[in-house]
Amino acid sequence: MVCLGNICRSPLAEGVLKSKVASRSILVDSAGTAAYHVGNSPDKRSIQIAKTYGIDISEQRARAFSKDDFENFDIIYAMDRSNYNNILRLASSVASKNKVQLLLNESFPGEDREVPDPYYGGKEGFETIYQLIDTACDRIAVKITT
Ligand code: 4NP
Repeated sequence: MVCLGNICRSPLAEGVLKSKVASRSILVDSAGTAAYHVGNSPDKRSIQIAKTYGIDISEQRARAFSKDDFENFDIIYAMDRSNYNNILRLASSVASKNKVQLLLNESFPGEDREVPDPYYGGKEGFETIYQLIDTACDRIAVKITT
């Protein structure tokens, strides 16, 4: 799960997907395409909205997306088109490029919708992104068990 800072959207996506695939041996992680927040906890608003839905993401720490992630993961979900393009720029093979998808194409196939960046907005934005992420992760959880 990849966003820009790895403090708002992708930590939430990591926590939500982990909660849905908990008992299966599936590695779920998140990262940011920018390094500004490396080592930081998730944004307080993301921690809070996750907690509201029974998920603890407070122990996560931000890291930067790296080329190694193309080797370590089968699917790389970008939260928005800017992240998607930034990840693609780091891919050095067609196989790597093919791993990159927009998260919301799981719930809105082919529409290239984005999980909006909630960083500069209010608390309400975090409920919106939670719902978008939750629905997409439901689809992923079904897909990887069938
Ligand atoms: P995220 O949100 O990409 O969902 O983690 C942001 C976090 C920080 C910034 C922008 C977006 N920033 O500009 O610092």
